[in-house]
Amino acid sequence: MPEPRLSRRGLLAGGAATAVGALAACAPDQAVPPVVPQPAPASGGPESSAGAATEPFDGLHQAGIATAPQTYGVFVGLDLRPEVDREALARMMRLLTDDARRLTQGRPALADTEPELAVLPARLTVTFGFGPGFLTAAGLTGRAPEAVAPLPAFAIDKLRKEWSGGDLLLQICADDALTLAHALRMVVKDARSFAKVRWIQRGFRRGAYTQPAGLTQRNVMGQLDGTVNPVPGTPEFDRAVWVSDGPEWLRGGTTLVLRRIRAEMETWDAVDRVGKEFTVGRRLDNGAPLTGRDEHDEADFEKLNAIGFPVISEQAHIRRAHVADPNLRIFRRVYNYDEGLTSEGHADSGLLFASYQADVSRQFLPIQRRLAEADLLNEWTTPIGSAVFAVPPGCSPNGWIGDALLT
Ligand code: HEM
Repeated sequence: MPEPRLSRRGLLAGGAATAVGALAACAPDQAVPPVVPQPAPASGGPESSAGAATEPFDGLHQAGIATAPQTYGVFVGLDLRPEVDREALARMMRLLTDDARRLTQGRPALADTEPELAVLPARLTVTFGFGPGFLTAAGLTGRAPEAVAPLPAFAIDKLRKEWSGGDLLLQICADDALTLAHALRMVVKDARSFAKVRWIQRGFRRGAYTQPAGLTQRNVMGQLDGTVNPVPGTPEFDRAVWVSDGPEWLRGGTTLVLRRIRAEMETWDAVDRVGKEFTVGRRLDNGAPLTGRDEHDEADFEKLNAIGFPVISEQAHIRRAHVADPNLRIFRRVYNYDEGLTSEGHADSGLLFASYQADVSRQFLPIQRRLAEADLLNEWTTPIGSAVFAVPPGCSPNGWIGDALLT
């Protein structure tokens, strides 16, 4: 197949230094003119539908973290090609930032082959994370934040290579599955001359059109999941999530621990309601702690039952996971996954457990250690994938994600 006359790859990869320079030097809107014309709004106009809603791309922090979770989320782990050096990383991140900035604002990517699919962004966000291999290629060997190292092994883990690790993370979320599929294809297409896809993990949550915004979602195990969580927009959230010290290039960013945790639905189904509630320490119907009435009542871990045992078991999930200091909490922004069925009709489902925190070792690890040691829920959940990424801060309208690291 002959190369198209004016392709992004031709413009931006390899030796096309002039074009790269031009793109880097100007604001995205003044960059290389789009190959395809901007599409006209579909009949009725996209502005009339919720699909027209956008999330800002530029800013202090990357979108997709404090953003109210969208219905669909996909996480892609990529491995850098061996020849990719610091200079190529900068080229790649300029290119991918440009794609993300356009697509999230409802504009086609440069050389977008299906520009009509870009006009309904449906709150699309594209978030980038850098794994240990990225930081090594960026020249940080020996100085990379310890926080981005793979987690230590836990006795509960049954990790599989195909769901673990990765040099570059793309986290793409939207309220529309077609918008997401298009953005994913556009961004990956531009990433692939620099990196190979290592894994892809697709998830979903109760959608914005299914239940009112702000309500806690349920996970595939039927539990309300996300009740005790830092609230975006509060000082506690900012302190728990955004990096405020450490390397300059990460300030205003965060770290992501992504665990793929399989839910053992066949055996979970065999547990009665009392057992399920005892396991977590919360009621299934309204998510209230077993010591309270309403979802947001504070759990009373001291309360004893009539025969002197704690109402919330010593090994209940919420007791083991609880962190009293709000500054040391983790921010959980989880998606469910559900992939196919065995021939016996058994589900392959669970959680894409995405945890954001300023510091993995101070915040995530102590919780994970306590859970691995003794959490009743371990009987019905199995971690099968694990990856850690530094999520750099956001950028200015003239900047690109990772610019403070790579320039
Ligand atoms: C498939 C695996 C998991 C399931 C189904 C699950 C489910 C739940 C549920 C139902 C709650 C109570 C409601 C809420 O506050 O959100 C909860 C709370 C929590 N979970 Fe998990 N969880 C899982 C794994 C994990 C992991 C791996 C961690 C961290 C390493 C974690 C950390 C927490 C924390 C910090 C809380 C809040 C505890 C509190 O202070 O009350 N969970 N989880």
